[in-house]
Amino acid sequence: MHTPVVGTADGDLRVMVLREFDPAANTLRFHTDSRSPKVTAIRANPQLSVLAYDPGAKVQLRIKGVGRIETDSTTANSAWRESTTFARRCYLAETAPSANSEEPTSGLPGWAEGITPTEEQVAAGRENFAILMIDIAEFDWLYLANTGHRRARLVVDEGGTLTGNWLVP
Ligand SMILES: Cc1cc2nc3c(=O)[nH]c(=O)nc-3n(C[C@H](O)[C@H](O)[C@H](O)COP(=O)(O)O)c2cc1C
Repeated sequence: MHTPVVGTADGDLRVMVLREFDPAANTLRFHTDSRSPKVTAIRANPQLSVLAYDPGAKVQLRIKGVGRIETDSTTANSAWRESTTFARRCYLAETAPSANSEEPTSGLPGWAEGITPTEEQVAAGRENFAILMIDIAEFDWLYLANTGHRRARLVVDEGGTLTGNWLVP
């Protein structure tokens, strides 16, 4: 479940790398470019859904939650520091993600193509880096089995406690 699909309230979907699940806080963390359309969509309406399937475990998770974009928080700062310089290179794109281009392009400045940059070289990307935190409201868990599938809904209450009930799959 490393690359779930994240759905925004405008109906758009995209694959994102899941960076962290915090089971105590019931939060998910993703990384993105603060200039990307999904950031605008989340700021306009923070209701999000996340869909993941683990074929080995035969488990589907459908998650509903509320997102927030953080650019300068402690978590955003440490997420930037802990990313490899290769990962941080993406944030050097000269124009915003989804901008039109006359030709196929990575968006990166020419000097950054094909290299693993240094700390100094990626520093300028920091202003384009954001984290997406999702406060999970609800999990829909589905386990596939030849003997009979099983499904449960788990709701996170205001105190952060999970309560659940079984559903017919
Ligand atoms: C395997 C994979 C992993 C991806 N991981 C991320 C990611 O962690 N963050 C991100 O912003 N986009 C990621 N993308 C790109 C998004 O799917 C999407 O194309 C891009 O972010 C633009 O989305 P938007 O137009 O909705 O802003 C990934 C794509 C793939 C195929």
